[in-house]
Amino acid sequence: MTESKEGGDAERGFSTRIGFIFAAVGSAVGFGSIARFPFMTAENGGAVFVLFYAVIMILVGIPMMVAEFSLGRRSGADAVGTFKVLTGDPRTKWRYSGFFYIAAAGFFLSWYAVATGWVLRYLWASFTGAYFDDPAAFNVGLFEGPDALFWTFLVMASSTAVVMGRVSQGIEKVNLVMIPTLFVMLVGLVVYAATLSDTGPGYRFYLAPDFSEFGLPTVAAATAQAFFSLSLGQGAMLTYASYMQKKQSLAANATLISVSTVSVAILAGLMVFPMLAAFGLLGGGEQGLALIFGPLPRAFADLGGMLGRLVGAVFFTVTFFAAFTSAISLMEPAVAYFHDQWKLPRWKSGLLVGEIIYGGAVLAAFSTPYLAVSSGAITNACVLLGGFMISLFIARRFREEARKEMDYGDRLRTSRFIHPWVTYVMPFVLLVLLLTSLFGAPGFLGGGEGAVQEILAFLD
Ligand code: TRP
Repeated sequence: MTESKEGGDAERGFSTRIGFIFAAVGSAVGFGSIARFPFMTAENGGAVFVLFYAVIMILVGIPMMVAEFSLGRRSGADAVGTFKVLTGDPRTKWRYSGFFYIAAAGFFLSWYAVATGWVLRYLWASFTGAYFDDPAAFNVGLFEGPDALFWTFLVMASSTAVVMGRVSQGIEKVNLVMIPTLFVMLVGLVVYAATLSDTGPGYRFYLAPDFSEFGLPTVAAATAQAFFSLSLGQGAMLTYASYMQKKQSLAANATLISVSTVSVAILAGLMVFPMLAAFGLLGGGEQGLALIFGPLPRAFADLGGMLGRLVGAVFFTVTFFAAFTSAISLMEPAVAYFHDQWKLPRWKSGLLVGEIIYGGAVLAAFSTPYLAVSSGAITNACVLLGGFMISLFIARRFREEARKEMDYGDRLRTSRFIHPWVTYVMPFVLLVLLLTSLFGAPGFLGGGEGAVQEILAFLD
């Protein structure tokens, strides 16, 4: 084992603190921040939602991130190995939650990679101007078919190449380049959008406060969004934490990562909506991912010429960096598993995982309904279930040890607040939200359908 200058295991993990932080931010910042958050905000009360979301980050996001970090850092192992190490029992039932994380992360990536492929396609097309004449035609059959497979292949091949190397050589280096670049470019886009004329309605559409009621489904959706956006509950942060150095405050790291992620999400909205408003494209009904591939390319085309190409290319570079660094983190739980438990070298493990997930992506690339269901309701339910299991594990099997691990490197001893919260409150809160996301909520709590209804509708 080679000790790095910060006292960690540089052979296995990240070589610097900033490397770990950027990698975690890279995992967190993705479609969730660039597309999902701005739209959720616009639709759920603007500035009121931003405040509400900040509260959820503080009450749920940061504590659950600390909780997930504490498991991975203590065990220094992959998601399955973590439960074996921490219970001291290689046959513990808890290891199934490890398998769940690995499978769920891989499943996520099967649609996430397809969407990332389309970003790549638009990035290329922004340089060549291919969608400028007829943006609508370029987007026909958006997710489906052999074309999608080609771009998905490029994404999976490059993310496989990154995870095949050592963590400090692959994942760490890529994030150290992509994350700061993304941030600077995004700020540039926000400033540029502010110089356009007629952007007022855009800012209003995004942030105008609206105190309409919040039902339980809004709370469940916002919590699921916080989990998704922070990459929690799928073993990704757990695995990254197993690569971090010991002498760091988990709470400080989690706070820094969450604040960065929310900042990028807020900035993304400050670019997107004014830009759409400037070209009269506001309120076309496109939500989430469709926003990136529908109205925005239209706006770049309307801008036209070299400027349109430049702005388009910068925007899709930002989105690609965001999505790609998340895709890597969705591969890593499985790669770490085959490496740690099956003793495969990283390159073999990476290739194996890359191939399996590409197989899943082929499904997603040929079925838009599958993609819509898997990226929406099921994803929400999975992240809430994943988070619930972490808090339950800490409450039932890892209580005192978790407190010690949370304290390690933390001079402020935030575990005084975080630990009881995670142990006694979170399991119940997350269970209620999980049930809401699965079965919907009765009318008096605000109504709304759950994942189960959506799946049944899909099978119908
Ligand atoms: N956080 C990413 C996003 O917002 C998606 C993501 C990456 C993720 N890794 C994850 C979500 C692990 C849940 C779990 O787009």
